[in-house]
Amino acid sequence: MRGYLVAGNWKMNGSIAANTTLVSGIIAGSPANESVELLVCPPFPYLAAVSCSLSDSQVRLGAQSISEHESGAFTGETAGSMLREMGCEYAIVGHSERRALMGETSEIVAAKFQAALAAGLKPILCVGETLEQRAAGQTEAVIDEQLNTVLDATGIDAFDSAVVAYEPVWAIGTGETASPEQAQDVHRHIRAVLADRNEDVAGKVRILYGGSVKGDNAAGLFSNPDIDGGLIGGASLKFEDFLAIADAAAAVQQG
Ligand code: 13P
Repeated sequence: MRGYLVAGNWKMNGSIAANTTLVSGIIAGSPANESVELLVCPPFPYLAAVSCSLSDSQVRLGAQSISEHESGAFTGETAGSMLREMGCEYAIVGHSERRALMGETSEIVAAKFQAALAAGLKPILCVGETLEQRAAGQTEAVIDEQLNTVLDATGIDAFDSAVVAYEPVWAIGTGETASPEQAQDVHRHIRAVLADRNEDVAGKVRILYGGSVKGDNAAGLFSNPDIDGGLIGGASLKFEDFLAIADAAAAVQQG
């Protein structure tokens, strides 16, 4: 049984004061339903402080990116071992902002995915198409390339402790969400690509949806059979908004 994961990607937002309010609000209001896992991914400089604040809670900590290298002369980069030491359990890899703005290719993303696993972190692999690619009927081809490059590098067994996040680029930060049907169609496809390699593993992998998820659209998305939670940007920055999404997951889980 796949439990829901509701993950907050804070991106480059926050401050010591804002994080304190956000984290204490999330801890205080977390749904009692333990089958819903909550995760926050703050910017690197705040990992240590947020890790301390989370120490007596069930809320997990994750990183927004990770270096593909173990250590050495890579100015400005952060190694998986450092993220583990800070208490991270997850690392996001291949977010579309990093693919588009930092030139991360699928090969680099595959190396980061492997670096996360090597450090004992669970990678959250983001995949998704742009509006132009969707309009050109290339959605599945784009996802296949992003997914298969990682699968070819790591093998399907590596997905035992991984999460996939479908984030259509056109829905990120735009207020335009994929409809539950559009999202489910792509999630089903992602699971089928994984199942081509190993059905057992595919059945266990959590596939999150990301892109303008809010309290009022979360339940519609999460009710679909292949949608196992959300990767939340804007709505993860206010604890009330984030908790509304967590509550939606708990309600769907309870049936
Ligand atoms: P928004 O929820 O702001 O659309 O961002 C989604 C996202 O990119 C999460 O990684």
